[in-house]
Amino acid sequence: MTAGPATRIPAPDAEATGPDLTGAELTGGLNGWSTTASADAGVDEMVLLDGPLGIVSKAMDERDTSLIMPSGTSLAATWDPALVSDIGQLIGQQGTERGVSAILGPNLNLPRSPLTGRGFEMFSEDPYLTGVLGAAWVEGVQSQGVGSCTKHVVANDTETERRRMNSRVDPVTLRETYLRPFEAAVRSANPWMLMMAYNRVNGTHCSQHSDLINILKKDWNYDGVVVSDWYGVDDTVAAARAGLDLEMPGPARYLGVHFAEAVASGDVPEARLRDAVERISRLADRAGRRTGGAVSAPARLRSPEEQRDVLGKAAAASFVLLENRDNLLPLDKSGIRTLAVVGPNAAKPCFQGGTFATVRPEGELVTPLDAIHEAFGPGVEILYEPGAVPTSAVSLTELGSTAPDGMPGVLLEVLPHASGKATDEVLYSEVRQASSFVWFGPVPGLGAGLPGRARITARLKLESSARWTLGAGGTGISSLTVDGKLIMEVPPPAPDDVMGVVARAETQQITLELPAGEVEVVVEMAFRPGRVQAITAVAAPEQASDPLTDAVAIAARADAVIVVVGDEQGSSRESADRTTAALDPACDRLVDAVAAVNTETVVVVNASRAVLLPWADKVKALLMAWFPGQEFGRALASVLTGSTAPSGRLPVSFPARNEDIPGWGVGLDAELTLDYAASEPMGYRHFQGTGQAPRYSFGFGLGYTEFALVEAVAAGKAVQDTNAADGVEGVGVRVTLRNSGHSAGRDVVQVYGRAAGETGFRLMGFASLDVGAGDTAEARIALDPLGFRRWDAAASAWTVPAGEWELRAARNAAEDGILCRIAL
Ligand code: BGC
Repeated sequence: MTAGPATRIPAPDAEATGPDLTGAELTGGLNGWSTTASADAGVDEMVLLDGPLGIVSKAMDERDTSLIMPSGTSLAATWDPALVSDIGQLIGQQGTERGVSAILGPNLNLPRSPLTGRGFEMFSEDPYLTGVLGAAWVEGVQSQGVGSCTKHVVANDTETERRRMNSRVDPVTLRETYLRPFEAAVRSANPWMLMMAYNRVNGTHCSQHSDLINILKKDWNYDGVVVSDWYGVDDTVAAARAGLDLEMPGPARYLGVHFAEAVASGDVPEARLRDAVERISRLADRAGRRTGGAVSAPARLRSPEEQRDVLGKAAAASFVLLENRDNLLPLDKSGIRTLAVVGPNAAKPCFQGGTFATVRPEGELVTPLDAIHEAFGPGVEILYEPGAVPTSAVSLTELGSTAPDGMPGVLLEVLPHASGKATDEVLYSEVRQASSFVWFGPVPGLGAGLPGRARITARLKLESSARWTLGAGGTGISSLTVDGKLIMEVPPPAPDDVMGVVARAETQQITLELPAGEVEVVVEMAFRPGRVQAITAVAAPEQASDPLTDAVAIAARADAVIVVVGDEQGSSRESADRTTAALDPACDRLVDAVAAVNTETVVVVNASRAVLLPWADKVKALLMAWFPGQEFGRALASVLTGSTAPSGRLPVSFPARNEDIPGWGVGLDAELTLDYAASEPMGYRHFQGTGQAPRYSFGFGLGYTEFALVEAVAAGKAVQDTNAADGVEGVGVRVTLRNSGHSAGRDVVQVYGRAAGETGFRLMGFASLDVGAGDTAEARIALDPLGFRRWDAAASAWTVPAGEWELRAARNAAEDGILCRIAL
């Protein structure tokens, strides 16, 4: 059945003998971010907002700010469920304060490959670690009276062609690996909503996949709402019969009134509609959105200072020290008179990827460079050079643009469609501090469902004539005009992944010579009626001289150098995968050049994914800093100076070369199918299987002291677990750890296990231990009950392999550690 015009849902009638359609309107969205209310069902509208790195502005307005939290990878590097729950509480509190009923996060997909465009949102390549930390995030959010919409079920780790691609996954891999984090979150934290992914799994779109939805609702007894990803439905009967409860965004094209019609015509059983209405009503109960009901208050309100404190702790705990030759870190302030800070990310750190879920930061943003100044004080001379300039074009406001009236910013205007009557009549105009705008539903001054035009006008001041790249794009036909002269026309994007195109803020770019003085740039976009509209203008000046030379000069004369390199916001993107795990070549070139002139070099990598680090042997210290949230600067300074010791551990394996990535070179086939067999098992299990060493192993990380495992003993009595998940409870490993170094520190002890006859080990438990210098500590690490199960595809059931299990206590996945055994 295809979409049709909305008709009214018949009112409930006591005499009627037909199916009960009450509340059917609840199953379709109202607009971009709200569900529809139903007076008959006694349910109010509910706001569902992106996540997961913070609360996104409903109006996509740069003035509507919230705290930027650490990315999923960054949180996973803490290996600390309590800290992740604290971050969940923060985001939950911000959600409640903004009237949100559910936050669209966490993203519990697995970064199957470092190439996945959206890997920064994801936690870890390991399903157990992802499940434990994902559940902690959900529990933290929901403790504040706002729901988590855990996403995207399932196998949504390819961004290219994400709406149409097909993940071909065998049932064992699906159950044991890709569904596992979702199962863990459902069983231990019960997210109020689950979002079905865009992609197909074994041929069927996830939001219309009855086998998948049955796993959630029947196998896991999930009682929350199953919602589509935005625009991720394309068939009423298929989605409704499969078990989808809610179509987003609105207005409804496939569910809502269409759901009611399909039930009335007998195409969909009435019980299915009752199930969906009951689940959405339960969400309203939980979120305090029953008509006349009270909205629940956050369990614990944190002051802005406390919020900053949690963010700072989480950021510092996520940093992973990969090299520290000659104990260069922490830097000895007394031995440094001149410190060179180099790299674009020191002054312009990257906090997030290029997705819809872009958070506009709230309050003060201290850069690493500012924080290093603060930490070293006036007694140390600090020199800064970017050394490499990001190649991508940026917003006009970042380049110091002004509106025609001289105000800083750009002038944004909305006008009627060009064929309308008064075509020059300006319906809306405002000076704004961004040059990329998105509207779901109504366009300001114009309203919803009408054609029109949006225009950005900005002036740039050029000291001398130079070559510039200018870019324009949007949801309709865009034009770029410079000083009144039409430079380029850009066709509208293909309609198959509107969300992707808009999220990427795609532009067509042109390079041209601009004269000295003031230049007026105008981007105008004519759009047809649509549910989302977007316009973007970007620019970048061409570099006159090579910035590397200046950076090398300051590095050569400094006592030590801190290089901060990494990604830009556009490097990790929704809806597009990357083609290499390498950093921008200009960053690699910069590190090489600096290391060649100064041995005392520390490199900080601000990228939230596994990256290639070809120069790792040439620098003394190397710190992975991910996208650690908006307290990045001060957290980094505290680790560099030793106020905090780094204790993060890698949540993803770092390959030495692109060729070592599981499934390297295998892409979508002609039918847009990705065969997971080419990359499974992925992550550290791939490296175990090939015998090849990763550059840095999953679970690896150094600190400012030394640790050694002393003993590991399997303990406990295995019993069938009690929550009907068919696992094994009660097994643990008692581990003794010695801090053999000279300062107190924290280590993460990991337990990997395998059943008799299996080749690879899988993570089954972990614990963090704080140990004083020279001390020994003991932990009893409880093993994951679900980790003992294996999926028997023939019987379509879980089994627990009997016999002897080998349990390996180790400090990363590639280490032999200490082996112990338990019989099941
Ligand atoms: C993304 C989701 C997101 C939704 C709403 C989709 O394109 O895949 O993760 O929650 O948009 O912004």
